Parts: sequence; C-alpha cells; structure tokens
Amino acid sequence: MPEDRLYFVHETACVEDGADIGAGTKVWHFSHVMKGAKVGERCILGQNVNVDAGTVIGNNVKIQNNVSVYNGAVVEDDVFLGPSCVLTNVSNPRSQVNRHALYEKTILRRGCTIGANATIVCGTTIGRYAFVAAGAVVTKDVPDYALVMGNPALQKGWMSRHGQKLGMPDADGIMTCPESGLRYREESPGLVRCLDLDEEVPLPAVLSKGTKSYRDFRSSPTTEGQG
Ligand SMILES: CC(C)(COP(=O)(O)OP(=O)(O)OC[C@H]1O[C@@H](n2cnc3c(N)ncnc32)[C@H](O)[C@@H]1OP(=O)(O)O)[C@@H](O)C(=O)NCCC(=O)NCCS
Repeated sequence: MPEDRLYFVHETACVEDGADIGAGTKVWHFSHVMKGAKVGERCILGQNVNVDAGTVIGNNVKIQNNVSVYNGAVVEDDVFLGPSCVLTNVSNPRSQVNRHALYEKTILRRGCTIGANATIVCGTTIGRYAFVAAGAVVTKDVPDYALVMGNPALQKGWMSRHGQKLGMPDADGIMTCPESGLRYREESPGLVRCLDLDEEVPLPAVLSKGTKSYRDFRSSPTTEGQG
C-alpha cells in the first residue's frame, strides 16, 4: 500500500486509477471499485463488492459481502447494505437494447438499512433511517423511518434510528425508542420525525454503541405490545 494512501485495500481487491476513496475506508477481498466512482470516508466494502463508475457513496457506509452498487445509485452517509442485497438500474433490461445512457436512479437516504437479500427496483427512494427487511422486494418509495417487508414490500410500522420497532404512540402521539430513549412522532400521515435529534445530525458517541441485542429489547416489558 502506498505510504500516502489514507484508506486500506486488500491485496485481492481492485481499485482502479481514478476512483476516489475517502480516508479510513476499507476495501476487502475481491472487491472492485471502478474508475470514476466516489466512496466517502470510514466506509467498509466487504468481500466481493462492486462499485460502478459514476456511483457516489457517502461517509460511514457499510456494504456487506456480495453487493453491486450500480451506476445510478446514490448512497448517502451512514447507509447499511446487507449481504447479497440487490440494487438495479434499468427497469426493463433487454440484452439486445443498449440503455447505458438511460440508467435510472435509486436513492438511499441517510442512515437507511437494506436487509440481506433484499432487492430494490430502480427509480425508488429509500427514506432516511428506513428499514428494508431481509428478502424484501421494494417497488416504490419508502418513507423516512418506515419498516417494510415482503414481496412486494409493504410497510409494517416504523423503525427508530437505532433499528428498534416503534410501538403504539402515547396520548401525545409520541413513540419512544426502547434503546435510545429518543422520541418520534408522526407529524402528518406518513411523515415521522425524531423530536430529539435532527435527521442530519450525527449520533452522539454515547448513543452509537449497542449494548443489548434486538431480542433482548423485544422481551423487555417496556416494548411489549409493539407491532
Ligand atoms: C425486519 C426484522 C428486523 C423484523 O424482525 P422481527 O421484529 O423479529 O419480526 P417478528 O419476528 O416480530 O415478525 C413479525 C411478522 O413479520 C414477519 N417477518 C419478519 N421478518 C420478515 C421478513 N424479513 N420478511 C417477511 N416477513 C417477515 C414474521 O413472519 C411475522 O409475521 P406474522 O405476524 O404473520 O407471524 C427482521 O426480519 C429483518 O429482516 N432483519 C434484517 C436482518 C438482516 O438483513 N441483517 C443483515 C445484516 S447480517
């Protein structure tokens, strides 16, 4: 590795000249970052990840094994792409018809999670901190904080910034995350906002380390009855 390089590339990975990679990023085994791709700081590209030319990936993005980020994808800061999830960039691909100039956008907003093996049909936007369950097939836009699952993916509730299901609102319409204590409210139909932390503000360090598993929170009395 050249001494002035501020990111790590495993010896089996290929980062083409002209790819722009931020400080602290790690590119693991057999991954490929093409010329013209831009990857932010402190990202992790797991094994067998492909990042196409023209792709823009933000800071602190975690991409698990076997994911291809195609031209047309915009991946904002703090996004999590689960193992073997699939992004797409042409709605109607045909081998005989060249549509290289017609790639459709898929926008993954800040902090969203795409579960393992989920597929995102192109032309869709996944909202900030939205959560796409494992194996879902997303065919339309997903609101901020929404939890969607199934094929086609349907909304099943709201998920906090910490990835905890938000239970029934109290009398003031407030839903409290059992992990962080941050409060959320549906301000208008389909529009959830965090009352305590702006969506664009990074998590304070004290809230950025998990101490209990998802199952532990599920069995705690404060979260009983959440749907
Ligand atoms: C979304 C998720 C967090 C939900 O987990 P959960 O809260 O424990 O869900 P529950 O077990 O309470 O299930 C609630 C219902 O949703 C269904 N369900 C749960 N996960 C589902 C999924 N991924 N797809 C479709 N249905 C799902 C359950 O079958 C259950 O249905 P029922 O009420 O008819 O019995 C979890 O399924 C998931 O997908 N996590 C992502 C894991 C992942 O991809 N990690 C990647 C990094 S390793």
